[in-house]
Amino acid sequence: NLPSGQRHFLAVDDLTPQEARALLDAALDIKKNKLRDPAFTPLQKMTMAMIFTKASARTRVSFETGMFRLGGHALCLGEEIGIGKREATKDIARVLSGYNDIIMARLYAHSDLLELAKYSKVPVINGLTDYNHPCQLMADALTLLEVKGKIDGLKVVYVGDGNNMVHSWLELATVFPIDFVCCCPEGYAPKAEPMQSAMKAGLSTVSVSHDPQTAVVGADVIYTDVWASMGQKDQIAERERAFAGFQVNEELMKLTGKPDTTFLHCLPAERGRETTDGVMESPNSVVFQEAENRMHAQNAVILYCLGLL
Ligand code: CP
Ligand code: NVA
Repeated sequence: NLPSGQRHFLAVDDLTPQEARALLDAALDIKKNKLRDPAFTPLQKMTMAMIFTKASARTRVSFETGMFRLGGHALCLGEEIGIGKREATKDIARVLSGYNDIIMARLYAHSDLLELAKYSKVPVINGLTDYNHPCQLMADALTLLEVKGKIDGLKVVYVGDGNNMVHSWLELATVFPIDFVCCCPEGYAPKAEPMQSAMKAGLSTVSVSHDPQTAVVGADVIYTDVWASMGQKDQIAERERAFAGFQVNEELMKLTGKPDTTFLHCLPAERGRETTDGVMESPNSVVFQEAENRMHAQNAVILYCLGLL
């Protein structure tokens, strides 16, 4: 029920490999050449409704700033709209899509996001659910393109919880050929379905390891995320025990055997838990370039969703 040429962006593998590359090329072009050009206003008079049922710094600011820089406007809607509480998600979908050209939502249950998209008359962008975080992965891919000059063929080792970030890495593995390893404690592996989809796509190698010391050998990229995601913060004590030995610290970075292994983290980071001050501040860490790239990647995602790429 979207206008012709318009699309939702709910997962990285909503994109074909060709679309993913075109989207990153557009993101780079806008970042380098167009963003500060006052004549570049492809979203003039357009508005985005942003729905947040969870905390956010990067997602909120990058979308709001990006919309403004592209000539549009974004509204930030928090708990006050009571999505799924004060009003059914499918009602909110039709109300908001009557006022706005595009919706971005950060929700707990992925099924709520799918419901929102199903009933929305305008494109919906996934700003993170408990299941995945595709906008983050587009920013991560953009960052690797800048730092490594390519994505294809990189060995990416994710050390930590097999969470929403890992599910989106597995989605990325269906559109770019990479060697992806999720290194996590037993009991914290990613869900079987995205693993199987990535394997079935046949573009990348994807695997699960429980041994950080051997998994990181030869890694071009080390990635980590918090051990307890939003909604799990009450489990931090048990998770700290389970994740002992899975901290990305200076010693583990050395075990890659490569001096130029790139360190990525979606942020926010808990320094002293999943990683250290030393790694975050090291020359191999590009976490703040990665955070800035949220906006650049999403600018292209917005244009793609609206059929303007
Ligand atoms: N990485 C990320 O999504 O950050 P926020 O939770 O601050 O939006
Ligand atoms: N896995 C984290 C990512 C935050 C950007 C969470 O869901 O809280």
